[in-house]
Amino acid sequence: MILCEKNRRATIPRLKFPSDVPSLSTLKLEEAFHVFIPADEWDERLASGMYAVNLGACPGGWTYQLVKRSMMVHAVDNGTMAQSLMDTGQVTHHAADGFRFEPPRNNITWLVCDMVEKPAREANLMADCLVKGWCREVIFNLKLPMKKRYEEVTQNLALLSERLSENGINYELRARQLYHDREEVTVHARRIWGAVPGRRDER
Ligand SMILES: C[S@@+](CC[C@H](N)C(=O)[O-])C[C@H]1O[C@@H](n2cnc3c(N)ncnc32)[C@H](O)[C@@H]1O
Repeated sequence: MILCEKNRRATIPRLKFPSDVPSLSTLKLEEAFHVFIPADEWDERLASGMYAVNLGACPGGWTYQLVKRSMMVHAVDNGTMAQSLMDTGQVTHHAADGFRFEPPRNNITWLVCDMVEKPAREANLMADCLVKGWCREVIFNLKLPMKKRYEEVTQNLALLSERLSENGINYELRARQLYHDREEVTVHARRIWGAVPGRRDER
């Protein structure tokens, strides 16, 4: 299922920028959680103790959101992570290329990605992560070019959709230009279960 949505101003959550957060972009991930995850599913899908991977994590605005929900985070970026986040003991910093990173464990629930990259490269990477079963849900940004933005979004959603379908994965896919987005669109994809017998996703 693909849903491509326009921003609906009436539903913009009122988000406060916490004083101890290393980057304003924290509000993008927080808004994405509000928009894509129904409130009555937060306890189950954004639960304490879950493992997450954050690609393009520095300085740590998105990681802050995951840490705030008591998740353990693998933060991947060659930059510097905010010391306040490292001090929580919940963050492992990998100074590595997000396109080559392989999660060190197989029970990752969330993979989020805010690397500044070509949309098609990101969409393919997200497809790889879901197809390999590295994570259950992804949130990432498509950083859009100056021209033909609508085409760019639809092409990349189609690409992701095709990759998941051809690998027998049932999924939910939604995209929205968030209030806190600028030249970008935020995408959420969730692996539900394998459509191929014997590949039911029990995690
Ligand atoms: C927009 S910033 C991310 C901000 C972050 N979401 C936050 O809230 O603090 C983009 C980051 O992606 C990182 N990045 C770009 N290409 C990358 C790659 N191939 N692998 C890992 N990180 C990358 C950059 O170093 C930069 O820190």
